[in-house]
Amino acid sequence: MRCLSSSLFRRFWGLLPQYVSVGPSQSPNLSPKQSSLRQSCSARPGLVTAPDVVSFWQKVFEKNGIPEARESSEYIVSFVLGAKTFQSLGSEKLCTPLTAVQQEQIQQLSCKRLERMPVQYVLGEWDFQDLNLKMRPPVFIPRPETEDLISLVVEEESWKCKAKNSAFLVAVPSPVILEIGCGSGAIALSLLCKIPQSRVLAVDKEEAAVDLTRENVHRLQLQDRIHILHHNVSYGSAKHLLPWGPVDFIVSNPPYVFHEDMASLDAEILRYEDLDALDGGDDGMRVIKIILTLAPSLLKDSGGVKRAAVVGWPRQSHPGPVNFTREKMIPSPCSDGEEPGKDDFLQTQQSKGQKQPLQPLHPHSPSAY
Ligand SMILES: C[S@@+](CC[C@H](N)C(=O)[O-])C[C@H]1O[C@@H](n2cnc3c(N)ncnc32)[C@H](O)[C@@H]1O
Repeated sequence: MRCLSSSLFRRFWGLLPQYVSVGPSQSPNLSPKQSSLRQSCSARPGLVTAPDVVSFWQKVFEKNGIPEARESSEYIVSFVLGAKTFQSLGSEKLCTPLTAVQQEQIQQLSCKRLERMPVQYVLGEWDFQDLNLKMRPPVFIPRPETEDLISLVVEEESWKCKAKNSAFLVAVPSPVILEIGCGSGAIALSLLCKIPQSRVLAVDKEEAAVDLTRENVHRLQLQDRIHILHHNVSYGSAKHLLPWGPVDFIVSNPPYVFHEDMASLDAEILRYEDLDALDGGDDGMRVIKIILTLAPSLLKDSGGVKRAAVVGWPRQSHPGPVNFTREKMIPSPCSDGEEPGKDDFLQTQQSKGQKQPLQPLHPHSPSAY
């Protein structure tokens, strides 16, 4: 592997005095690793390749306590070279010297990461499932776990289709889905792609989220099947939402973090993401309770098919964006003609460190299968 040219090092290091020590003669803070790296590079000036720059920034990130140093560095370099992942860069690109413009771009993006900006915001885009979505602070970055929520809705929908076919019922029109708290639009757009006949009403209380969802909708050319509404959902919201018609599904990845855990979130979250998107109040259920209360009046109450509210929240209290799982709250009046009532909706309490196990309230609920 070729080494970083001494001029590149000088340039990076000169521009980043607050992050990187300059060298053993000038600074006593240089780690032995950095020192030997610098010496070897000074001794072997040459052209700069992608692996060189990845290694350089990985070390800078590590030195400055940036989490996921290697991944961050790889994502940034790959992005500038027009690839999704470092692994997908072909050998030709890996060996080709970077241009000055590319090096400059990498440096600018890496400096943002050094300020603990999440890599999704640094790049301004991120893949969620098969979709490439714009990302912009402070709109919530979709977490990988959210993909489970999509699967739950798709499962519910296919269950409905099977039930419908087995009972020889009249075809149900395209499912209408309400998403409460759409953020970047990740869930709404994935569902529109995975359930081709569906239509979505996407609601968020934050203008920044509504704007970003709108941009992502246009990016994917899905504007014909979605309505985006800027609205702060509260206990009195039925009258604002019902004009768009009762829905087949309510889906939400609501704020879920216990208020007292908010201060211990990672710097990436605290500095850049909308904290209101995560703060679930004292019991983490602030918005979930609202959704459960509204659900009976918003879900369709006829048609002989299941209606469902699929809401994601953490299995255990956890202050970070990881280690939470998705469960479903199933209101299942099913095909017996019952009117959905409050008791059809799973009510659950989560308390710190424990959560009551979910109990399906209706034998026809898919969670009972
Ligand atoms: C955890 S984020 C989820 C965003 C997106 N659905 C996702 O999974 O990437 C929660 C979102 O709900 C929105 N939100 C929170 N409370 C709300 C409310 N009462 N009414 C409408 N939106 C709300 C926040 O602005 C935020 O965009």
